[in-house]
Amino acid sequence: MTTPTTPAKRIPSPSRADTSSDPKRACLPGALSATTDPTTASNNTEMASARRILPQCADRVSHFVQDVWSVFSPLAVKTGAVNLGQGFPNFPPPQFIKDAAAKSIGPDLNNQYAHPKGHLPLRKEIAATFSPLYGRKLDVEKNILVTAGANEAIFATLSAYLNPGDECIMMEPFFDQYEPNITLNGGKPVYVPLRLHHKKGAKVSDNDSAADWTLDIDELKAHITDRSKVIIINTPHNPIGKVFSAEELRAIGQVAIDHNLLIIADEVYERLVYGDKEHVRIATLSQELWERTVTIGSAGKTFAVTGWRLGWALGPESIIQNILNAHTRIVFCANAPLQFAVADALHEANKRNYYATQVSEYAARREKLLACFKDLGLRVTVPDGSYFILVDTSRIAIPADEWKEICAVPMPSTNRDWRVCYWLTTKIGVAAIPPSSFYSPENAHLAENLARFCFCKTEETLDQAVAALQKLKPYIK
Ligand SMILES: Cc1ncc(COP(=O)(O)O)c(C=O)c1O
Repeated sequence: MTTPTTPAKRIPSPSRADTSSDPKRACLPGALSATTDPTTASNNTEMASARRILPQCADRVSHFVQDVWSVFSPLAVKTGAVNLGQGFPNFPPPQFIKDAAAKSIGPDLNNQYAHPKGHLPLRKEIAATFSPLYGRKLDVEKNILVTAGANEAIFATLSAYLNPGDECIMMEPFFDQYEPNITLNGGKPVYVPLRLHHKKGAKVSDNDSAADWTLDIDELKAHITDRSKVIIINTPHNPIGKVFSAEELRAIGQVAIDHNLLIIADEVYERLVYGDKEHVRIATLSQELWERTVTIGSAGKTFAVTGWRLGWALGPESIIQNILNAHTRIVFCANAPLQFAVADALHEANKRNYYATQVSEYAARREKLLACFKDLGLRVTVPDGSYFILVDTSRIAIPADEWKEICAVPMPSTNRDWRVCYWLTTKIGVAAIPPSSFYSPENAHLAENLARFCFCKTEETLDQAVAALQKLKPYIK
């Protein structure tokens, strides 16, 4: 069952295989869409005319191939599998947040542009929420920028700081948007893997802790060059669930100080930390770190409203002003009316004990899935934060004939984890995500025995997943 590992991101997807050799066709409208039906007359006409007259897609985009989400989400729908792949909550956002949203479009002017920095009432609530957590008074005019989700905050930051060829360091596995966010802005991604160190003497089915995944500081230093400009730190981490300790952050921060790097602290899962772990904000560790760090947050993750596309960047005036300059030219402003709803949500959250309630609900979901994998005898990384579980699939023995069948299915990657996740979705009925999508081609092999399951789902969905996963029993060696 060993398979050659080839990089997910460099192989044309099946739906694009016939177009990839022809750059004029490679970026046709719908070329990446899993739903495009090439047999329809209108589509054929469109493709024929595109071949003749449409402009060529830019190089910075033409190499993007079908991504992992556009493979596994449609596959889950098509096969009726329980979808523990893509990390969006399928439970309703709290009613008080929905009520605030419903109210937000009432006043006519709420529906017009917001200030590029964000509506003042939201910036005030962000300042009120985060000033105590940062131990400093955040200034609504200088330290806060409201963005179109955390992703746009990261994009705008990279836009503001990267000149062509500047390097941005990120840890593998990484949230897969980082890479295009860097390259679209002319930067060069540099990868340093977090490595899993099993505890000495651990049995094959003993769980690992997210804290067992560590960054080797010497390995990080070895990747620094005179073009290094930015480093991204994601804590709590997607997909490992690692919550970096103050000591780890200090060590990384020191490298950033020594080599004059801007730190992007992606803390979108800051409210989802379990047990006795504590979320540490790198920007609070010293004045020097505050001065070179922008911290990114997400209303989508905080309030289970990922579709609202609202987030924020917090930091010193010098950094926020640069990001604002880029952000103003990218989107001008973020979704205006829903900013009022997020302001209300932040205002209400502490009074309603929202964060504590939310984390205990997530902890129960985490326990349910962990218990299932323990019962199956599959080793996992127990997450200390975020809402993902990495499962070690090396004990799953897929029969040779079924393996052969999966190998014949055209997929954007031939990594083992893609095939195992395909089999889990189609045969077992539970969709998971192959984590090699969160690695560079060089290090994709580090994920070959992993699958990522998310637990941001209703109890009912998780029960269905647990029931379906029982079908794995005969395959576990
Ligand atoms: C680590 C990480 N950062 C950023 C984001 C993007 O957040 P948003 O939806 O607010 O853009 C995600 C979304 O999944 C994420 O997992």
